[in-house]
Amino acid sequence: MKSYHLTLLPGDGIGPEIMDAAIKVLDLVGQQFNVQFDYEEALFGGCSIDRNGVPLTDETIEQCRKSDAVVMGAVGGPIWDTQPHENKPEQGLLKLRASLGLYANLRPATIYNALLDASSLKPTAIKNADIMVVRELTGGIYFGTPRGMDKGKGWNTLSYTKEEVERIARTAFDLAQKRNNHVTSVHKANVLESSQFWREIVEEVHQDYSDVVLDEMYVDNAAMQLVRDPKQFDVILTQNLFGDILSDISAMITGSLGMLPSASLGEEYAVYEPVHGTAPEIAGQNKANPLAMIGSIAMMLDYTFGMPEAATMIYDAIGEVLEMGSRTEDIATPNTNVVSTTEMRNLVLERCEGKSKTIIEMVRMSYEG
Ligand code: NAD
Ligand code: IPM
Ligand code: MN
Repeated sequence: MKSYHLTLLPGDGIGPEIMDAAIKVLDLVGQQFNVQFDYEEALFGGCSIDRNGVPLTDETIEQCRKSDAVVMGAVGGPIWDTQPHENKPEQGLLKLRASLGLYANLRPATIYNALLDASSLKPTAIKNADIMVVRELTGGIYFGTPRGMDKGKGWNTLSYTKEEVERIARTAFDLAQKRNNHVTSVHKANVLESSQFWREIVEEVHQDYSDVVLDEMYVDNAAMQLVRDPKQFDVILTQNLFGDILSDISAMITGSLGMLPSASLGEEYAVYEPVHGTAPEIAGQNKANPLAMIGSIAMMLDYTFGMPEAATMIYDAIGEVLEMGSRTEDIATPNTNVVSTTEMRNLVLERCEGKSKTIIEMVRMSYEG
């Protein structure tokens, strides 16, 4: 039997609630496909500050490095906002990404037909939209130096090296080849030198991908186009800060931030994390939508463990639960049945259990074969 070791970083706020849901789904997949997943949990974010004084310890980084993959909830919350800037939970997240070399953040916005009415956008505008935001994750203004603040001003630096742009551009073009062969590189080259540089390098890399169409768009226009006509996009390739913003916008195409999963990938390590944060105002109330976290588990099964059938089973199960009309509060509409985090978890588990035993048996034999 194949066996994999995972580090779990539930984090703060709704993090532990959605992690519970996701791991129960992963346990079931393990049983169905005869793969063993074992878990080691670690403190990360505000809860780690409370216990260890810092948001991310060196031991936790080491533990992540020794794992086959890392599953993360979310970090941060108002009670830690008074921490010195460099000790905030969010800085711990940046340290985790940098320490593990997670330069490529894949944030897919997939529309479930059952949720066409959950979005604030028109159903005709979003039906069949399918966008993958490829966000550079270890460079740009999040990491540039000098940075700082004093009484008179605050400052940050936005810079990119050729290597940093090249490798994320390759990630985007490679993904586009498996999707609809279209990359939109989003930048602000009309104002920023770093973006002019970005544009040049992306064009250079594009020469190796003649089958992929490359478009460009300024980020202000891209934000508007995303809500005007999201179907025009396939892969959006962009820098760290723009990707943070554009992925939250693209979440509304799916109906909620609670629907958006993500994979943060590097040469050696991978972290799977929902796009959303700790949603402090609903934390501890069993209200959070666990589907972004469960979707991140599906991405892990596909990308890290080579189990695309298991990933598809999860996506299909989610689609069926939504078709049945059960929704957490964030995606609810007047005619739907509002369910809690644990009820949504149980519904997804039931749908996974109901999947054809024959298909699972065939896939299982091919893994063991
Ligand atoms: P947020 O993503 O936590 O919440 C934004 C809105 O979306 C809120 O209305 C929230 O209730 C809702 N929402 C988010 N996830 C949801 C879910 N799964 N189910 C239902 N509703 C959901 O963003 P915020 O309020 O700007 O930030 C709150 C805290 O989270 C801050 O401390 C922030 O720094 C942190 N944060 C962490 C991460 C991360 O760890 N990756 C990401 C974003 C924000
Ligand atoms: C995200 C979050 C993080 C980011 C914060 C919490 C550091 O917003 O993962 O989108 O800006 O990258
Ligand atoms: Mn964000």
